[in-house]
Amino acid sequence: MAGNIKLVVCKDDAEVAKKAAVMFADVIKAKPSAVIGLATGSTPEKTYAEMAQLHRTQGLSFKQVMSFNLDEYWGLDGDHDQSYRYFMNDHLFQHVDIRPWNTFVLNGKATNPYLECQAYETKIVSVGGVDIWLLGIGGNGHIAFNEPGSAVDSRTRLVNLTPETIAANSDGRFFKSAAEVPRCALSAGIGTIREARSIVLLATGAKKADAVAAAVEGDFSTACPASLLQDHADCTFIVDEAAAGKLKNAR
Ligand code: F6R
Repeated sequence: MAGNIKLVVCKDDAEVAKKAAVMFADVIKAKPSAVIGLATGSTPEKTYAEMAQLHRTQGLSFKQVMSFNLDEYWGLDGDHDQSYRYFMNDHLFQHVDIRPWNTFVLNGKATNPYLECQAYETKIVSVGGVDIWLLGIGGNGHIAFNEPGSAVDSRTRLVNLTPETIAANSDGRFFKSAAEVPRCALSAGIGTIREARSIVLLATGAKKADAVAAAVEGDFSTACPASLLQDHADCTFIVDEAAAGKLKNAR
């Protein structure tokens, strides 16, 4: 399928981060009470640093912004240094003027995961939906923790992580060993993500090249969850040259 995905190829990860931060800044300037979707992982770290820089040097304000994160490890509470709540505080929230009560990260210690996921979906709808959602991509094409096979209309739910994702997150960047990585997570669904008015997916490094090629130029298929963004009305992939390396028609 020749999808609608807009592709921006940058020379390196620093340029990816700058472009992504500016896209978010433009949305926030146009609508100060924007609802933004956020991701964790190595890829967006530099983008968050750029957003913090725009806040410090250009007065970009997050005072009225509301944020929703894609996912959280099941079983970790927000104080755990590998939780995604901790990551977000550390990389973005404490560096900008976003109100803590306007930041929504699924609770990995919720008493009832089903109610937690339902409440998250309800909250997104009640604030008018997500204006722009930042995503990374797994080496297997996953978005959030929607592993291959996840349905196009999947909603926020408790999911199992694949051995591949557990290995990727225990390669020294995050957890020290696979045994420490939780086996499950709460994750926004592909249907949840697709409802965002605009989507920006970042990919850097040669390890992502196969997944990027499958997502942009492969079939619209649950085998590559990111390919399920092909028919979105406003989806941009911002990738560096290494991550674009396997595209046949890098535009
Ligand atoms: C993180 C998330 C994941 C990551 C993906 C890539 O919130 O939902 O889908 O975006 O695993 O991770 P990195 O950026 O660490 O390669």
